[in-house]
This record gives sequence, C-alpha cells and structure tokens, in this order.
Amino acid sequence: MTVQELKAAFQTAYGKVAEAVYFSPGRVNLIGEHTDYNGGFVFPCALSFGTYLLLAGNNEKVMRFKSLNQPEIVTLDSDQLTTPLSNSWVNYPLGCIAQFVKRGVKIEKGYDILIWGNVPNGAGLSSSAALEVVTAYAFNDQLGTGYDRTELAKIGQLSEHEFALVNCGIMDQFASAQGKKDHAIFLNCDTLQFELVPVKLNGIKVVISNTHSPHKLDSGAYNQRVAECKLAVEQINKVRPIKYLAELTEAEFKTIENAITDPVAHKRARHVVGEVQRTTDAVKALKAGDIAAFGKLMNASHVSLRDDYEVTGLQLDTMAEEAWKIDGVIGSRMTGGGFGGCTVSLVKDEAIDTFIQQVGANYEAKTGIKPDFYIAEIGDGARRVE
Ligand code: GLA
Repeated sequence: MTVQELKAAFQTAYGKVAEAVYFSPGRVNLIGEHTDYNGGFVFPCALSFGTYLLLAGNNEKVMRFKSLNQPEIVTLDSDQLTTPLSNSWVNYPLGCIAQFVKRGVKIEKGYDILIWGNVPNGAGLSSSAALEVVTAYAFNDQLGTGYDRTELAKIGQLSEHEFALVNCGIMDQFASAQGKKDHAIFLNCDTLQFELVPVKLNGIKVVISNTHSPHKLDSGAYNQRVAECKLAVEQINKVRPIKYLAELTEAEFKTIENAITDPVAHKRARHVVGEVQRTTDAVKALKAGDIAAFGKLMNASHVSLRDDYEVTGLQLDTMAEEAWKIDGVIGSRMTGGGFGGCTVSLVKDEAIDTFIQQVGANYEAKTGIKPDFYIAEIGDGARRVE
C-alpha cells in the first residue's frame, strides 16, 4: 500500500486525518546467528520493507490500536498500558508504550493508531521488531523524550521480553532502528558499539529465499537455546569466570570445553564461539573485497547452526543445500532465529534466474512447499515519513 492509501485507511477507521506517519524496517542477518544474547557479533542489514504506523491524538485519553490485517479496533484506557493482553498482536506496540510509562514519561492525551506492514509474516525477517521499533520511534517523537536509536532498540527488546515473552537478543530491533541504505551493521552486542560497513557488491545480489516452512521458531525453542547457553556459561564458570560465551576465543574454548559436562550445552557453546569468530572473519573478508571467503563463512555458519545449534530442519537445510549446488552462488545460510523462515544467499547477477528456477523446483520437489524469493534492497532504519 502507498502512504496515500494508508492515510485513506486511517480516515476510514477513525473518521479523522492521520497527524503523522512513521516507518521502521525488517532485517536480514548476513552472518552471526544466535550470538547476540551471548554478547557476540552480528552483521544484519535493514530491508526496504517494514511496518508503517499512522497516528492522531485524541482527547478521550484512550489508546486505540487497529491493524489493517485485523478486523477489530482494540481500545485501552490509560491505566491499562503496562499489562500484557492475552494472545494479541497489540502486545508488540503496547509493550513499547509500557516502557515509556515505566520510565515515568507522562502521556497526556490518547492516540488512535493504525498499523500496516509488508514484511512477510513468520519469515524470520523481524516483522515484530519492525512493529516494536516503529512504535518506540513514533512515541519518542510524539512525547519528545529524545531517546537515541540504540535506546529505542532496547525499548523494542524489552517489549519482546515482557509482553511477547521471548528472551531475544538486541539484533533485530537494533537493525530496524540503526539500519542504513546499502550498509550492514557490524554490532558488538555486549557493548552495543557498531560500525556501518558498505555492502554494495559488484555484480552480486543478496537473495532471500522464504521456505514458508510450517515449523516456525516458537518462543519455547528459542528460550530453550538461551537457557542452554546460560547453562554452558555456568559450567565454564567452575574453571573460569566469564559473563558471556562470546568472551572466549576458539583456542581458549578448546582448553576449557571439558568443563561443560552437559553434552547439549557443549554443542551450543561450540557454535557460539565459532560463529563469533566467523562473523569477525567475514567482516574482514568483505572489507578486503574477498567475497569468496565471505561466502565460505556463510556456508560454515549454516552447517554449525544445523549440527551444533540444531535450529534448521528439513526446509532450511534443503533450501541451503540446493543453493550450494548452483554455479554463481557465493554462499548461502539460514538467517534469523531458525526452524522455519528464510535463507540468505549471495548470488552472481547472471546466476539469479537459474537460482530461482532450480532452487525453487528442487525445494518444492523435496518439501512439497512452494517457496518465494526476494532480491533484498538494503534500506534505512526507523523514520518519520510525514
Ligand atoms: C531472533 C532473535 C534475535 C537473534 C536471532 C538469532 O531473530 O530475535 O535476537 O537471537 O533470532 O540470531
């Protein structure tokens, strides 16, 4: 939908004109998976698709939420802004508004809010982070709180922890808040220091393949991985004090890995330590123009997520393995939380048609699911559109 169409939809829903329009994007992570909540590096970029939020103030002191994908308008009183609803999409924006209230920010009036997004749902491209960050950005602007983009990302992450009950890291919200056109974000998730690295690749495109897998990452499996990493840290602490797995180099890990007596926690930790190294190496390779090395690290990342972290499954593995067979594919791996969702691949321009045709046909033959392919456009982070 265009901004004009969204404004017309706002008028239809609320019988008045939208006073402001905001946007925040989804993201794709190039490498550095399940490292963020372990204090490691990630390397995501913001996409050109995302979530729009339109709003206008009201004098009734109520918050009204309407999504163009949902029939009803949800209305909440000003004393209902810090309590999660049971089973509602409204928890994503509400959880962000709650953070302003919890910080003592006075919300003097009410707001009528309309949401629409074009991030494919459940694809692991962070439609929920886009919704959280667009809400945090909009209320920061409306309430004049002056929080910086990193703070807005943290507000989004807290919404996820407290209202969606997913103990996620900071990557998705950070990418949505801090994204820059044609750049990826090399982020240290411990210190939150980051560097924007150009990803204008000569004759190569970033291709996203949507498995449309029915096995979505559920919060249970995700939170279980977070807990397994915590267990690994606790067991390592018997021989060496660390806060995060990412503090260990691969060589250091080898000297103390026997302290992790739980075999599952041991595999999870091995992935994290290796993935942090791969991410650092990949960024170095990209800066040096060694795109082939970058691609090999992407492939190795997938293998580690498949064998040690165990977050892939038939659909993601088939999609990556079929991609690896194509001439002109530099690298391919699952991206995001895992189980379902998307892979990300670097593909030479001249191979893209073959890629879509052959990977598409072979994937469908092996899984019975018709996939979708998008050529990623790397866009800017959260902003006010009008
Ligand atoms: C999800 C989470 C992120 C990150 C990824 C895995 O997208 O929201 O914080 O942990 O999974 O890298």
